[in-house]
Amino acid sequence: MNLRFTEEQEMMRKMVRDFAQAEIAPFVEKMEQGEFPRPILNKMAELGLMGIPVPEQYGGAEMDFTSYIIAINELSKVSATVGVILSVHTSVGTNPILYFGNEEQKQKYVPKLASGEYLGAFCLTEPSAGSDAGSLKSKAVLKDDHYVINGSKVFITNGGEADVYIVFASTDPEAGNKGISAFIVEKDTPGLIIGKDEHKMGLHGSRTVQITFEDMRVPKENLLGSEGQGLKIALGNLDVGRIGIAAQALGIAEAAFEAAANYAKERQQFGKPIALQQGIGFKLADMATNIEAARLLIYRAADLRSKGLNCGKEASMAKLFASKTAVEVTTEAIQVFGGYGYTEEYPVERYFRDAKITEIYEGTSEIQRLVISKQL
Ligand code: CAA
Repeated sequence: MNLRFTEEQEMMRKMVRDFAQAEIAPFVEKMEQGEFPRPILNKMAELGLMGIPVPEQYGGAEMDFTSYIIAINELSKVSATVGVILSVHTSVGTNPILYFGNEEQKQKYVPKLASGEYLGAFCLTEPSAGSDAGSLKSKAVLKDDHYVINGSKVFITNGGEADVYIVFASTDPEAGNKGISAFIVEKDTPGLIIGKDEHKMGLHGSRTVQITFEDMRVPKENLLGSEGQGLKIALGNLDVGRIGIAAQALGIAEAAFEAAANYAKERQQFGKPIALQQGIGFKLADMATNIEAARLLIYRAADLRSKGLNCGKEASMAKLFASKTAVEVTTEAIQVFGGYGYTEEYPVERYFRDAKITEIYEGTSEIQRLVISKQL
């Protein structure tokens, strides 16, 4: 494994870092007030960021997977909201069609997703099927040339904003998790009903909604892969998605560390900067060490993925460790800021609120341990 980024990867980092500072930072306050960052996504589309790892043949930038992870990492340093929107759009919104779609489906949807004309979303979780994704209850029944789908989904990131939804429903309930199938569903499909927006602790600019399917009619040619292949499609794409969420967590941790370190150098107590007080200096040392370890796990998993190798265990390890690091580092960053850290005047309280979800979505930390231990 090469521990240096290539020139192309460094260019991606610089381009996204400059873009995030110039365009996203001024929009953060609006997102905190709940505004979805549509203008930012339009600009990201112009820069080719909505389809970074997608082959040129399907309208993407055809860059390696590591470059994509670099982009999520850099975006999330400024806005974890923008980070998760891109991560969900690419890894679980676009990739299922790219990897499991037939040629007609790929031609129809992937170029629009990769160019940013379409936004993607992923509908797996249900009110009573979260970690146990294989127990979902939505049903799809083939009637003539359409599947009729009924059921409900929760916590759908990009829901209500997306143009294309990857929907999981059972075509054979008796077959249990082997009866789950995946479908490509367009936003205007009759029977697709966008429900309540969740009011979340963090990621205020990202939309998270409930969705119900009421006799939703999906053309049978929109079945992704074959009947019964759904859970494999979901779990296979989540492997990759988890590296993106790990990179989001890393970005949040890096931003919190940077803010805390800068503040510790300026803030004077007992006659010297608090960074020179051992209690704070050691804290910063631990924060920086954990961030470095998370970074290595993430880019190792990304490198495996870039080379087309199995990365499920490494992706789960990266997500498990990076999300824990994000929660710990943002907590400690508030401690470094003292009372000021608890106010909205400084960004560390936002980082703290944004960090927690990285231990929950795309598989909780407990599920990551399950995936890792099964593979051990
Ligand atoms: N890739 C491909 N196939 C896989 C796989 C993977 N990573 N992991 C398992 N499979 C296959 C298995 O081989 C098995 O097929 P066979 O029986 O033919 O071998 C099938 O899938 C079922 O596997 P398991 O029996 O291991 O499945 P399980 O029901 O015991 O569940 C689990 C395993 C790891 C707990 C899984 O359910 C899981 O990951 N749960 C967490 C769900 C999750 O991450 N949800 C996130 C929601 S999406 C989200 O948060 C996005 C967002 O909006 C931000």
